[in-house]
Amino acid sequence: MKTLKFKNGDHMDAIGLGTWKSEKGEVANAVKIALSNGYRHIDCAATYGNEAEVGEAFAEVFGKGDIKREDVWVTSKLWNNAHKKEDVIPALKQTLKDLQLEYLDLYLIHWPVAFKPDVSFPEKAEDFLSLEEVPLIETWKEMIKAKEQGLVKHIGVSNFSIEKLEELMNDTDHLPEMNQVELHPYLQQNKLLEFCSRNGINVTGYSPLGSGDRSDEMKADDEPSLLENPVINKIAKKHGASAGQILIKWSEQRGTAVIPKSTNEGRIKENLQSAGFQLDEDDLKQIADLDDHFRYVTGKFFEMEGNSYENIYND
Ligand code: A2P
Repeated sequence: MKTLKFKNGDHMDAIGLGTWKSEKGEVANAVKIALSNGYRHIDCAATYGNEAEVGEAFAEVFGKGDIKREDVWVTSKLWNNAHKKEDVIPALKQTLKDLQLEYLDLYLIHWPVAFKPDVSFPEKAEDFLSLEEVPLIETWKEMIKAKEQGLVKHIGVSNFSIEKLEELMNDTDHLPEMNQVELHPYLQQNKLLEFCSRNGINVTGYSPLGSGDRSDEMKADDEPSLLENPVINKIAKKHGASAGQILIKWSEQRGTAVIPKSTNEGRIKENLQSAGFQLDEDDLKQIADLDDHFRYVTGKFFEMEGNSYENIYND
């Protein structure tokens, strides 16, 4: 298994288990299956609403003692309603309590978007705080404090475009160690990857298999399937692998981490086995040609008339 390296020498497994949309009642089992089958990287977030269940799995597995806490990389994310300086560390402490952990390996600012503290998910323009009211640097300074206090080992961001990274980097020498963004063959983000690499920022790709935030109606309209893509399936056949494994391998081979979500035992195992073969140059060229800047996670739910979050990605 490939790993991503951090400046202090820490390593993170390139393939982790995603938990976005993993249902309560299923997620604890998924985490236990993953850990007992060799996963050592679990990706969580407060807003997924399932951290307490993930925490029950951690408590059970680490309590048994076969797998140690320090052998597993755990990431979580600060939700958009806790960007104000007084709210960051309390939100992190809640996540630690839910996950039943003393520290996180990595904590990310989930989006460069701020909501008012009592808003879980915005419905109107007034539910937001602007980035003038809560600048990203205000939130970032608290993330640095969390690291200094030993609550987290590494800090980073998620859903940050080059522009947003530059904005933050103008105000601090303490760069994010990670940017977690949507990445797959339809959204290859080569410029962003190059920018991150030049600045020593690791990248994790989410929605590697193409699950997103569109409603079923919108999907029927215009959402292409990655898992059914003929090029991906032809390459899968050639390697005797599944389409999912090709997509995961592609991410891993590009030097990013990748966090496929599954609560199904067979697919959890299958996804980790993607580490076991190599895509060749011809495969990589064919996949490179699939790029069409298509986002499964549009961020459109943050754009409301009268707020300041239009074109969050600027592309
Ligand atoms: P399930 O949990 O039933 O396995 P993404 O990681 O892009 O968000 O995609 C997750 C979605 O893909 C989930 O619906 C998950 O369903 C499904 N999935 C996970 N692994 C595979 C796989 N190897 N092949 C097909 N579908 C998969």
